[in-house]
Amino acid sequence: MQQLTLFPITETAQEKNLSQDSFTHNNVCDETARIALEENYGHLLEETDEFNRQLVSFQANKTEILHSWIKYREGFSANLVDLLIRKFELEPGDIILDPFAGSCTTLLVAEMRSINAVGIELLPHCHLAWNAKSRAFGYDVNELNHIREVVIGTTPVATTKPFNHLTITETAFPQQAEDDLMRYTEWFESLDISKSTKTLCQFILTSILEEISYTRKDGQYLRWDSRAEKIQEHNRNRVAKGKKPIKGIDKGDLPGVKETFLKRLGKIISDVTELQKDRPLPSYQRLIEGNTLFELPLMAENQFSGVITSPPYANRYDYTRTYALELAYLGVNEDIFNLRQSQLSCTVENKPKLNDLEKHYEKTGQSDRFKLILNTVQSNKTLSEINAALEKRLKLGEINNKGVLPMINQYFTELTFVFSELYRVCKSGAHVAFVNDNVRYAGEIIPVDLLSTNLAEQVGFQPVNVFVLPQRKGNSSQQMGRYGRVALRKSITVWQKI
Ligand SMILES: C[S@@+](CC[C@H](N)C(=O)[O-])C[C@H]1O[C@@H](n2cnc3c(N)ncnc32)[C@H](O)[C@@H]1O
Repeated sequence: MQQLTLFPITETAQEKNLSQDSFTHNNVCDETARIALEENYGHLLEETDEFNRQLVSFQANKTEILHSWIKYREGFSANLVDLLIRKFELEPGDIILDPFAGSCTTLLVAEMRSINAVGIELLPHCHLAWNAKSRAFGYDVNELNHIREVVIGTTPVATTKPFNHLTITETAFPQQAEDDLMRYTEWFESLDISKSTKTLCQFILTSILEEISYTRKDGQYLRWDSRAEKIQEHNRNRVAKGKKPIKGIDKGDLPGVKETFLKRLGKIISDVTELQKDRPLPSYQRLIEGNTLFELPLMAENQFSGVITSPPYANRYDYTRTYALELAYLGVNEDIFNLRQSQLSCTVENKPKLNDLEKHYEKTGQSDRFKLILNTVQSNKTLSEINAALEKRLKLGEINNKGVLPMINQYFTELTFVFSELYRVCKSGAHVAFVNDNVRYAGEIIPVDLLSTNLAEQVGFQPVNVFVLPQRKGNSSQQMGRYGRVALRKSITVWQKI
């Protein structure tokens, strides 16, 4: 089978040293299966100049028309989706699937190219982002301009409507900002404007929460400004116990709700005006608000011509914490626990979903399929080796949170269910692209790209390419201090249903 060449290849994997030759620091654990995996798939590893960290991250979207309306750090760029659509030769009439849709970059780029697309996503602020962005061609610019004038000329009356905080969001805003946020929220709800413009106003308020708050999203955590009462109280307690106060970040002068809202609305009006000058031919895009693991098995087979996606990485980042302000603002309270648990397992808190999945497959008359997929994962030698290696490191006291072990096992187990369902719902000839990062825990390297490729092959896909970014991923300072620096691959794996 001829290999798909997506980008000009600069050097081979061997020349560029893309392959990893050691997976276990100081030879503590068995690495035979991981080395065999590199030998098996090493020829698929390719590094290209056209393909950089900016392209696979949200960075390139920051100034983009439409895609910059909300900052989704975990998103990939519209240019990457565009590039993959072209290289996979996807056309109007085709349907693209993104099972981890996030801020819906894939769906929006598909819309620009008049290609049908379906996405699946769990988080409510992403649903809102889709509802607001997907209407870009439908907004009435006159109404948007009118709203702008009204906001400039009016000070809405104060409201008693509270911001329903989660424990982790308490004191995130200066009091004035929180009061203004709620008064604008209530005011927009009461205005006599179209439903889509109301949704847009709610979306804009959601998109400015970080900017007007004492918090900053920083990968795994929300970082807090020293001025937040939460930090001040924490420090008073520390000082009372004779401990040194912790130092928060300094976000400088915080912008107000009104000015930030108007700035964002101004950009949106200018984007919408531009977009509406050149409308793409009609096509349909749909976002399913749900859990991929449970939605995919319900879909009809052989319908998608391509999959372009990026799942959460196996890096312990918890989206429900990073986006706690947005979720709380949208009224997610106790549900946050369910949302966290429904996410593809990528935090140490995720509990196994296998029982629920088994029941789901049983209910839909697919018990045999469930067993087959589970058996594929459980008999995978590389995953068994990784599980055993982490077990050993845990016994050696090198893993500070034992939740890492089930997290890794569940991560690949759940992904295999996704891969298997993708194979079923894809048409023959369809290409599948997954953007992901390799990770390392306690000196054990987990080759997420090649292990995923192996599991995808086991469920039927033909591995095609593993594109490796020229810039490798750094290590956490903790890992570096103890196990030295190892460059980890950040890759786009491409498979095909033959
Ligand atoms: C890396 S982000 C995708 C970003 C997307 N490519 C973009 O450009 O915005 C992964 C997304 O998967 C979602 N997700 C995680 N587990 C999920 C599940 N079980 N079902 C549906 N979505 C899920 C997360 O909420 C997150 O938005």
